[in-house]
Amino acid sequence: MRRLYQRHHLLKCLSALAGLSRWLIGLTFVAGGMTKAADPAGMALKLGSYADALGLHALFHASPLIGNGAATALGTAEWMLGISLLCGFKRASTLRLTLGVMMAMTGLTVWLYVASPISDCGCFGEAIRLTNGQTLAKNIVLLACSLFLLTRLRHRLQLSITAEYGHFALLSTLCFAVVTALYSLHFLPVADFGPYVKGTDIQAAFDSTPDTDDNRPSTGDADASGITGAHPLNFYVYRADTGEDLTFELLADTSYTFLLTLPETQTADDGTCDRIADLYDLCTDRRIHFYMATAADSAGIAEWKDLTGANYPILCAEETELRAMVRSNPGLLLLKDGVVVNKWSCNNLPDADRPATIFIAAPDHRPLLGGGWKALGWYLVIITLIVIADRLRIAILFYQHHIYFKRLKPLHTMRKKIVAGNWKMNLNLQEGVALAKELNAALTADKPACDVVICTPFIHLASVAAEIDPALIGLGAENCADKVKGAYTGEVSAEQVKSTGATYVILGHSERRAYYHETPEILKEKVNLALANGLKVIFCIGEVLEEREAEKQNDVVKAQLEGSLFDLSAEEFKSIILAYEPVWAIGTGKTATAEQAEEMHAFIRATIADKFGADAAENVSILYGGSCKPSNAKEIFAKPNVDGGLIGGAALKAADFKGIIDAWKD
Ligand code: PGA
Repeated sequence: MRRLYQRHHLLKCLSALAGLSRWLIGLTFVAGGMTKAADPAGMALKLGSYADALGLHALFHASPLIGNGAATALGTAEWMLGISLLCGFKRASTLRLTLGVMMAMTGLTVWLYVASPISDCGCFGEAIRLTNGQTLAKNIVLLACSLFLLTRLRHRLQLSITAEYGHFALLSTLCFAVVTALYSLHFLPVADFGPYVKGTDIQAAFDSTPDTDDNRPSTGDADASGITGAHPLNFYVYRADTGEDLTFELLADTSYTFLLTLPETQTADDGTCDRIADLYDLCTDRRIHFYMATAADSAGIAEWKDLTGANYPILCAEETELRAMVRSNPGLLLLKDGVVVNKWSCNNLPDADRPATIFIAAPDHRPLLGGGWKALGWYLVIITLIVIADRLRIAILFYQHHIYFKRLKPLHTMRKKIVAGNWKMNLNLQEGVALAKELNAALTADKPACDVVICTPFIHLASVAAEIDPALIGLGAENCADKVKGAYTGEVSAEQVKSTGATYVILGHSERRAYYHETPEILKEKVNLALANGLKVIFCIGEVLEEREAEKQNDVVKAQLEGSLFDLSAEEFKSIILAYEPVWAIGTGKTATAEQAEEMHAFIRATIADKFGADAAENVSILYGGSCKPSNAKEIFAKPNVDGGLIGGAALKAADFKGIIDAWKD
């Protein structure tokens, strides 16, 4: 009793651990994916740093599409994987993929930690910055969790969305992530976690930064993501023509100042020059300062002037800082009193004809631009509704079956509890007879609380029949021919089996399916002949390991039932006993958990109900087989849809077999 309690306690702890690991990895992935999709331009800069460190500069920077596309794909994939984990969608494949991703990521962060080519990995964009050491520690923990989850705890995960609804959740995530990324690329990041978020007091941040030559702008700063690490802001501007430092003058200006940011000219969008010119005219009329700040060299500046007819004053600034100010090329920043009042992408520049709309933006510290929160809220609502709908559907199905069976139950006798032994190709005649005698004596002395059957090789049948009390022990064969009689050397017909005194036969065992190529059609013939000769059939079904890992076990088992039994009449079906034997558990010592057995037995019963009606489903005994032992039988048999066991190895010793039979006693 104490051991049972301890075991129960341990199982509960394992389930909690599995849940915790799943939430830890899932939420990390979702957060990482969201921050990347919310600011793909920032992530593209970070990926550019990786490409540079790997010597792939030319390839990566061939087109901005490469960086933006890679950042969008990465964020979307990470987000989807996180949601799959949290919803429990296709658990086996998701956990395998998670482990693969974590192995690759940990390898990458070991490199970052050792070689330090980049100061911050960019896992969470600019929302959370981790040092390389912190990232490595985080990834080691997540790797350990995913390894543990896949190898030991997979079956302990509680919530598991069905495939149909899981696809909806993933599709919603895919759409939402891609739309978020495209929106952020076209306008500005929906979540601005950067150093120049609206409302930032550059003057104050600047005052707190020691003014050393090290944080003066220099070309080619190590990390191109705008994250310089040593100080929060690197806001320095000076005149392109005279070299005069305008930083403090600009920050001290108590009226509005526009700063058109142009990190570089090669990929800059020059299609908005008319709008910019109109704005500049408006500013000139109203005596508002308007500058362009760029990192382009003099040739680039001349080219830009040529292209756009720009005649506003031009300042020089560092490229990484300009990209951090506004994620657009060109972008527009509105400053007042050294504070970021507003910012615009080149695709959404303010309209000079409506000046009232330009200067009203209230300075605040919103990390998400207005619509971002709402969209995120909608996304969460959609995912929650999908999960709730899935749970409800399962609950309704379960409830319907429950009510259905409950109504019918009083009309019928309870189905039989059975423990059947399958000796396979073990024991010679004398050993077999001795075992049968020993078992018969043991059960005579201590009556079983269930039906007991032993299925032996053909050569034992007649002799064993003479030794056992048919009221205590049923006798069965392990196979019979698919032919009635005749020239089939070595075969034993159903009629011959019956003539020995046997009343059962095992058909469809996985060993016969695998080694003797017994197809569903052959088995159908055997079943028909066995029934025609008055034998009861213990019909085995079950999936192999690969099928379970691909989560196809239900389909496999259903196909096995359909292929060999679904042509029977409801009357004939009464002589069938089913045995669910997951092939990966047979003779391997690896038992299915009681929950796995129950889940499958309930599915089998529901499948039988669909085909033969609730009455047949309620009355058919479904046995579990596969490394069943005296130590685990009680837990498995306690499940409502498990009606006993088909026992291999443990049926070869009277004491072990009796131990399993006794699992039916209180
Ligand atoms: P096992 O075999 O109990 O040795 O795993 C079960 C069976 O094959 O029926």
